Amino acid sequence: MNETDFIPKPYLNHIESGDFTWSSPSNIALVKYWGKKQDQIPENPSISFTLDYCKTTTKLSFSKKENKEAFSFDVFLDNEKKDDFKPKIETFFKRIEIYLPFLKDFHFKIETSNSFPHSSGIASSASGMSALALCLMSIEKEFVENISDEFFIQKASFLARLGSGSACRSLEGDLVVWGKHDEIDGSSDLFGVKYPFEVHQSFKNYHDTILLVDKGEKQVSSSVGHNLMYGHPFAQQRFEQANKNLSSIKSILKSGDLNAFIGLVESEALTLHAMMMTSMPYFILMKPNTLEIINKIWSFRESTGSKVCFTLDAGANVHVLYPENEAVSVLKFIKNELVIFCQKGEYINDKIGFGAQLIKVE
Ligand code: DP6
Repeated sequence: MNETDFIPKPYLNHIESGDFTWSSPSNIALVKYWGKKQDQIPENPSISFTLDYCKTTTKLSFSKKENKEAFSFDVFLDNEKKDDFKPKIETFFKRIEIYLPFLKDFHFKIETSNSFPHSSGIASSASGMSALALCLMSIEKEFVENISDEFFIQKASFLARLGSGSACRSLEGDLVVWGKHDEIDGSSDLFGVKYPFEVHQSFKNYHDTILLVDKGEKQVSSSVGHNLMYGHPFAQQRFEQANKNLSSIKSILKSGDLNAFIGLVESEALTLHAMMMTSMPYFILMKPNTLEIINKIWSFRESTGSKVCFTLDAGANVHVLYPENEAVSVLKFIKNELVIFCQKGEYINDKIGFGAQLIKVE
């Protein structure tokens, strides 16, 4: 598939108005995407666990309008008008207009809500952009009736990527790869694909407890961080390392080697933050409590032989990953030793999920 395969033939059907609602989850990368080329093409392939509880639900209502010169839409978060979300969506619409030629024909009302608190420091761009892309694809399906399920998801992921890179990994579960990798069949820089190989039982129902260390707005956005990978002294080595880690994770996921999994996932998390610290200008998104938690996890593992580990996204919060058979003991450890490092003691219990859902409105 290439970009032009996503440009539709002229539509034959006519549609006046309607609405669609989708919910789409967040995801947490095991091998990280950090650095991109033009048009949201990643510098290296990445792989993520799709989450279950953390998600965005978006209702997109549309009605035909007279003036077809400009985009027209309103955005609401929890029923409250959010004009500050508009520039990001306007940019998204501009990027995808060529693939969805109906965008200027309608006025849209975008009503969105998140299952997690807005000010939790959890980025809603992956779940939000993927939910919106799916709603838009549901409209396209009204215009082009014979769209296959496979193409529907692929194009939704392709569009979501143009909204926010990691969003293209949120549509399906439980493991999704984005970015061309020679050893992963069907992988593409343009959209996410379900991880196509065998996965050991140990990784089924994996848990992710998200410790909310800092719920404030990030000082440096992901887009700025990605851009700082241009001309970064270690960028090329980092992109090579991510490719190698993707090769390694294949055998780890197959064999269920949890020690190797821990080594790879924690190294990826710290490398991501090392890239930030060695950017110019440099920045640090971890907080003192992020490090307190990491050290506690390491000593718990040392003293108990547990297979719990951590990963980080572009922020201070810690994702604590652990297998299903340790759910009780690790949760006890989290409550006893880690919750004190969370802002207002808040955390979210999540686990691996299986992707987005169309919400049928009766
Ligand atoms: C650290 O997908 O938020 O979470 O493409 O600019 O929207 P944009 O960036 P975004 O970057 C996510 C970076 C990450 C790692 C990852 O999810 O792979």
